[in-house]
Amino acid sequence: MTFMCLTLEVANLGKTYDAGGEPVRALAGVSLRIQQGEFVAIMGASGSGKSTLLHLVAGLDKPTTGSVVVEDQDISRMSDRQRTLFRRRRLGVVFQAYNLLPTLTALENVTLPALIDGTDGSLADKKGRQLLRLVNLEHRAGHRPDALSGGEQQRVAIARALMNDPAVVLADEPTGNLDTQHAESLWELLIRLRRDESRTIIAVTHEPTGATYADRVVMLKDGLIVGEIEPGGEGHASFVAARYTELVG
Ligand SMILES: Nc1ncnc2c1ncn2[C@@H]1O[C@H](COP(=O)(O)OP(=O)(O)OP(=O)(O)O)[C@@H](O)[C@H]1O
Ligand SMILES: [Mg+2]
Repeated sequence: MTFMCLTLEVANLGKTYDAGGEPVRALAGVSLRIQQGEFVAIMGASGSGKSTLLHLVAGLDKPTTGSVVVEDQDISRMSDRQRTLFRRRRLGVVFQAYNLLPTLTALENVTLPALIDGTDGSLADKKGRQLLRLVNLEHRAGHRPDALSGGEQQRVAIARALMNDPAVVLADEPTGNLDTQHAESLWELLIRLRRDESRTIIAVTHEPTGATYADRVVMLKDGLIVGEIEPGGEGHASFVAARYTELVG
């Protein structure tokens, strides 16, 4: 018997942005339950609410309706400070636009979350280098973001997201700037984190090939979940693409 434990529960999540007096409903009531060690991909057209969902789950923003419970903690009810602390300790976020600090080197960007949290400098340094090795970037440790390619910056952002041993890794289009070979090794890295370290992975992607690495693919349309599929592993990209067209259009 495999024991499954609920890591994330999103209930009736809604988000309406107030864009200059014009309300924009980005999420219209999303409910989702994710077990520890599951790998869930989120697909949907541009503007369907994928990043909004990820940001709310990451506690970067507050929902208009509903709740987000991570490891039994309702982050939608936390103060800003509590949410920031919780995110730093339990969640690893890879943003669509990487958000690396331009004045810091790759290694300094990776170690920053641990240093803010009070980890000893040389310990953080050692772990930061290990993580850069994991994403095949140890030779770029001393480079600043403007001296890295887009794909390299993306991999630094992934190393940074892993620095504090997160329970949940949230990645927004993590392979958006990677070539096929690097994209494949990134999906394999996410699979390893899930399999060997029981981390829960949630990744937004528009690539059917990428989605085949997930256990489940959730399809979003106009801020709502319109369907969910089990992709069935490598080699099923055309199946994912066909179901996507059916569900999302
Ligand atoms: N801060 C904001 N203020 C107002 N509207 C916003 C804001 N952020 C997002 N939106 C709107 O909410 C909707 C959902 O945006 P979101 O970024 O979640 O889409 P997405 O699915 O991630 O799209 P993409 O694939 O292009 O990244 C869009 O219509 C967008 O214009
Ligand atoms: Mg987005």
